[in-house]
Amino acid sequence: MANRKRSAATDCVHAGEELHGRGNVPLTTPIAQTSVFVLEKFADLRRYAEGKSNAYLYSRYANPTVAAAEQKIAALEGAEACVVTASGMAAFLCAVLSCCQAGDEIVAPLDIYGGTLKLMETVLARCGIKTRFVAFQDLPQIERSITRRTKMLLIETPTNPTVRCIDLEQICAVGRKHKITTVVDNTFATPILQQPLALGADMVYHSATKYLGGHSDLTAGALAGSKKWMDLARQVMIVTGGCLDPGAGYLLIRGLKTLEVRVQRACKNAHAIARFLSHHRKVSRVFFPGLPEDPFHALAAGQMLDAGMMVSFDIRGGGRAAEKFIDSLKLWYLATTLGGVESTVSYPLLSSHVGLSRERLKLLGVSDATIRLSVGIEDKDDLIGDLEQAIERA
Ligand SMILES: Cc1ncc(COP(=O)(O)O)c(C=O)c1O
Repeated sequence: MANRKRSAATDCVHAGEELHGRGNVPLTTPIAQTSVFVLEKFADLRRYAEGKSNAYLYSRYANPTVAAAEQKIAALEGAEACVVTASGMAAFLCAVLSCCQAGDEIVAPLDIYGGTLKLMETVLARCGIKTRFVAFQDLPQIERSITRRTKMLLIETPTNPTVRCIDLEQICAVGRKHKITTVVDNTFATPILQQPLALGADMVYHSATKYLGGHSDLTAGALAGSKKWMDLARQVMIVTGGCLDPGAGYLLIRGLKTLEVRVQRACKNAHAIARFLSHHRKVSRVFFPGLPEDPFHALAAGQMLDAGMMVSFDIRGGGRAAEKFIDSLKLWYLATTLGGVESTVSYPLLSSHVGLSRERLKLLGVSDATIRLSVGIEDKDDLIGDLEQAIERA
């Protein structure tokens, strides 16, 4: 499955920061904290204007610190190139505006991050880019929704918060058959566990705010794919101003170095937690594709290296029990994010899924009993101990 020249653990540390043969340089990539770069001669400016120069000119266009992060993520995704952006939302916008214009359509399952859904239903719709939403996993309906106006197929797998998976190879084959661009949000899986480009996707993007950064201390996004797509995406990023600050770029590089070890540890914890929850009398349902009884177990095992670090569950007693459980936690933080070293809990009905209609929530499998856990890298017994005491109080 992997589309890399070296192992992910090595790329996490070295890609984009190769120093061999260069003497007396800092070991870590310095923060190029500058908005602009000095050119030596008028001729350099001319060469730049003629598109013949790789020199840095202005940090909104490109910056050496951010470029190191881009090369690292490109290596991890097995991509020719990557564009790092100010947020995951900015990365998605760059993907959309690279392949769609007014009058074009996007096809996407309903199971996508709420912010992405909102962008499609409001701003993109106002700009004349319409999205046809379809039920998750319904491949025939996805295919039926494709018209001659469709330019992009958007997929998120595993999904938030019910950790459902969709067959990436199949969906990318549909995209290819209809000559439309398949874009995958790989935030939940990370390139350590899943490489959508190797399975046929055209572009892959991340909320790098989550696992790629990994320490809840930065907001960033990343889009990766062929050089052709990334040249287009960079032009969009430049003119829409969605560039990442070099300071955040440094934090992103630092976070990426430990991505592989963080993912390994958090996956182990997630398996233990899902098993614990699946045996608990106060839990009516667990959503985690690592469990053999999960409906997405076989699919996840086929296209992911492990089942991921997100575990959701339905607590018996509905909303009141959920509130008591969350308020009783001592180690897990109540925070509307995921992917950090810290384990966090969120309540989708009042965060990512707030305001959605009953019918939509039903389709998505989310109820007032649903609790989402982002499993961090703490000790598994401490994490389970805290969940256990909080469930007993619920
Ligand atoms: C799956 C997914 N995609 C995209 C985003 C948007 O990323 P950001 O908040 O970095 O803009 C999020 C944010 O929560 C997310 O969870």
